[in-house]
Parts: sequence; structure tokens; C-alpha cells
Amino acid sequence: MERTLILIKPDGMQRGISFEILSRFEKRGLRLAGLRLLQVSRELAEDHYGEHVGKPFFEGLVAYITSSPIIAAVFEGTDAVSAARSTMGGTKPVDATPGTIRGDYGLEIGRNVVHGSDSPESAEREISIFFGAGADVISWSRDVDSWVFE
Ligand code: RTP
Ligand code: MG
Repeated sequence: MERTLILIKPDGMQRGISFEILSRFEKRGLRLAGLRLLQVSRELAEDHYGEHVGKPFFEGLVAYITSSPIIAAVFEGTDAVSAARSTMGGTKPVDATPGTIRGDYGLEIGRNVVHGSDSPESAEREISIFFGAGADVISWSRDVDSWVFE
């Protein structure tokens, strides 16, 4: 089953809405497969956001993502990557659809509360960054799965 990496970014943590946000993915039907609380180092930030190195917003992005502990979560389910992205809403919260996480909880692009992998390939890469050596990703099933997955 497809997996995706979700991060509750520092603003989500500082504002005390981390579990409210995780709950949105869980209620959608996605199954939690991994969970970590961690402090992102500059090195980890550069690895995770490697595609953005050199862009004008990169230094601000690194400062943001390293500014507080974050939660990293793996969710799995049918089309988990696109399901999570649509639950999150667009990158720029002010334009994100109301009802999405960013559309309900954010205003500024540099304070957009949540990260989700943008493709299955990115998900695989990002999950190995955050859940590499020693951090568990668990394969399990829920009694309710047959009511969520066809
Ligand atoms: P994310 O990777 O965090 O889930 O966000 P995303 O896919 O929706 O957006 P992406 O293009 O990957 O950008 C990563 C993060 O960089 C910040 N950003 N700032 N000031 C700017 O123009 C700008 N553009 C991007 C945002 O925090 C965005 O989530
Ligand atoms: Mg992205």
C-alpha cells in the first residue's frame, strides 16, 4: 500500500495543533505507520529540501523547519500521496481551499503548518531520511480497514 511522509512543521507544534492535524489524515482513512518527535538539524533540512537548495526562499525555509521540534509521520493507504496533498491544500495558505489544513490553519507561505510528500518517489526518499536506521515503520492492519479500503 502507498506510503507518504507528513511533517507537522514548527508553527504547527508551537501553536498546539499537531494532533488536530494528524487527526485529519487519520479521519480521512489513512493508517498511521510511523511517528517521531525530532529536532531537524541544518543537515537534515538540506537533505529533505534538497530540490530547493539555492532558491531565494531556501535560507528562510531552513530557519523555519529547524526552529522548533517537529513531528514526522508515515501514513499509508490507497493513493496516500495525493490523498494527503489534497487534505493539506495548496502551498500558499491564503489561496488554499477552505476545509483543507492549510486553508483552515494558515495565512503565509513560510508558515504553512504541514508537509506532505509530492510523489511516491519523494515519499520513499523522505521516509528513508526520517525513518532510516533504527526508527520503525510498522506494517499492520486495522479491523476497520475493509470499511475504508475496497
Ligand atoms: P512542502 O514540501 O513543505 O510540503 O510544501 P509544498 O510541496 O507545498 O511546496 P514546495 O514547493 O515543496 O516548497 C517547500 C516549502 O518552501 C516554502 N516556500 N516558500 N517564499 C516562497 O516563495 C516559498 N516557496 C516555497 C514553503 O514553506 C513550502 O511549503
Ligand atoms: Mg514540497
